[in-house]
This record gives sequence, C-alpha cells and structure tokens, in this order.
Amino acid sequence: LISMNLNTLININKKKFDIKFKKLLKNKLDRSSLSNAMFYGSINGGKRIRPFLLMEAAKIAKISANDAFIISACIECIHSYSLIHDDLPSMDDDDFRRGKLSTHKKFNEATAILAGDALHDLAFELISGNLKNKNGISKLKLINYLSLCIGHKGLALGQALDLEYENEELSKNKILDMYSRKTGKLFEFSFSAPFILKDNSKKDIEFAKDYGMLFGLIFQVIDDLIDEIGTFKKIGKTPGKDVKQGKSTLLELIGGKQVTDLCKNKIDAFVKKYKKRLIKNPILIDMLNFGMNRIN
Ligand code: IPE
Ligand code: IPE
Ligand code: MG
Ligand code: MG
Ligand code: MG
Repeated sequence: LISMNLNTLININKKKFDIKFKKLLKNKLDRSSLSNAMFYGSINGGKRIRPFLLMEAAKIAKISANDAFIISACIECIHSYSLIHDDLPSMDDDDFRRGKLSTHKKFNEATAILAGDALHDLAFELISGNLKNKNGISKLKLINYLSLCIGHKGLALGQALDLEYENEELSKNKILDMYSRKTGKLFEFSFSAPFILKDNSKKDIEFAKDYGMLFGLIFQVIDDLIDEIGTFKKIGKTPGKDVKQGKSTLLELIGGKQVTDLCKNKIDAFVKKYKKRLIKNPILIDMLNFGMNRIN
C-alpha cells in the first residue's frame, strides 16, 4: 500500500516536472539536429525519480519552487546525457532506451555524442544562470559539488570502471564502490542539493548526502536485478544485457536473495543511525523501501 501511494506521488511529480521541463527545453533549444537529439534523449519515458528525491529534499530544506525545478532540470540533463552515452556502441551498446530507439540509433553516433555533451553543458547553464537564490557563495558551492559528483571521481569514473570491470572477478566492495560513483553520486547530489543551497549545517548536509547515496546504491542494485528478470515492455531497454556483456554486478557475485538482504541490512543500519531525523520525515524510509521493491 505504501509503495502504491508513493507510486502515485512519483507520477504526479513526474507529470508536473515533464510539462515544465519540456517548456524550458523548447525555450532553450532550436531546430538544429543537435537540439532535436537533445530533446529526444531527455524528454518522455524517464521515471524522473531523481527529481522526486530532490522535491522531497526541497520541502525539508524549504527552497523555492523555481530553484527546486531548476536543479531537477539540471539533474535530468546530466542523467539523460549519461544514458545517451551509456547506450553508445563503445559503451553498453544498447539499441533501446525508455521504450524507443536509443539516441544514436534514432540519429547517428556523432550526433548522440554531441547531444550528450550539450545536455551536460545545458545542466551547468541552468544551475549557474537560472537559480533565483541570492547567495552567490552557496550557489558556487553547489556547482562545484555537482562537478565533483559527476566527474573524474564520480559518475564518469564509475562508468569507466563499469567498462573496465567487464569479465573480471571482483570483490563486493569494489563493485559497490563502482556503483557509488556511476549511480550513487548523482542521487547523493539530488537529495543534498537543497540543503547545500540553503547553506544548512554540516550535519544536515551529511545526512542528506548519506541518504541520497544509499538510495542510489539500492537503485543500481535493483536495476541489475530488473535487467535479469524484467521484460522490454516493463523496462523499455534490452533485458538480459548485463550477463551477455559480462558485466560485474553484485547480483552475479552473490545472487538475488543476498542482494535483497544486503539492501535490507543497509536500510536497517541507516534507520538506526538516523532515527531522530527519520522520525520527523517517515516518507524517507518509505522511499527507500520503494526503491528496493520497484519493478521498473
Ligand atoms: C537508469 O536510470 C540508469 C541507472 C542509473 C540504473 P533510471 O532507471 O532512473 O532511468 P530513467 O530516467 O527512468 O529512464
Ligand atoms: C547506468 O548503469 C549508470 C549510468 C548511466 C550512469 P546501467 O548501464 O546499468 O544503466 P542501464 O541499465 O543501461 O539503464
Ligand atoms: Mg552501463
Ligand atoms: Mg547500460
Ligand atoms: Mg542496468
């Protein structure tokens, strides 16, 4: 029941977000084929789960609706860029994404690479130019932190490791470290950004980062599970790819039962550590369980 309610909340947020996001992109982009590919790779079909996380954090940190939307849009630009590149032949080589042809199949490889690059840049255009918050220093901190989350120690490194690790025997910790970068860091940013913009206490920011990271780790672990048991219709991307490509996943290393146990244990430990904060916002616990039980 809890996850059904959350599903509804996530969908309401997605619909609102999609309307504004589409409008924003239409204002920013033109009719070049680069713009068309950027539009194609970022609109329609995404679950917008990171914007949902951000909206929950925005409510707690009390940032403005405009700024919450701009940061959400920025995150979805980064996320979409990462997916366009992730699907390229030189990376995961997937012909489908969100139930449609992946961007390089719909357009061509060069256009897809450049659309990814330009979406990445658009994210920085938005976060540096469209926030209304007047605190220049905290805005700068936020932009600096985003750079760290997605760059050579964050998402990009995680993606590089994911490819390097194909067909290798790895320890659980190495896999978790790779997940924390390729997926965890952007979730960490999504949940902590409002607290950073509001210049909240170190402890508030720590909590938010830990929460986002945990959500992201669970999200990737379950993405792997869904890759194995999902159908194209449900997930909108080619199922069974991880095994076929020799991806080093936690699922492959320890199996389905232990993977869900690991998620449960991580949630339990987190709830124990942050009991007082979570009592004030019980939805945060529901969201973690939702992330663990999701099927697409
Ligand atoms: C897919 O992310 C890539 C991972 C980090 C596992 P999502 O499952 O959030 O993709 P969309 O945005 O809903 O398509
Ligand atoms: C994706 O991991 C992580 C990023 C795109 C940063 P996957 O390669 O597992 O994502 P899917 O399964 O293709 O969506
Ligand atoms: Mg990948
Ligand atoms: Mg992939
Ligand atoms: Mg996957």
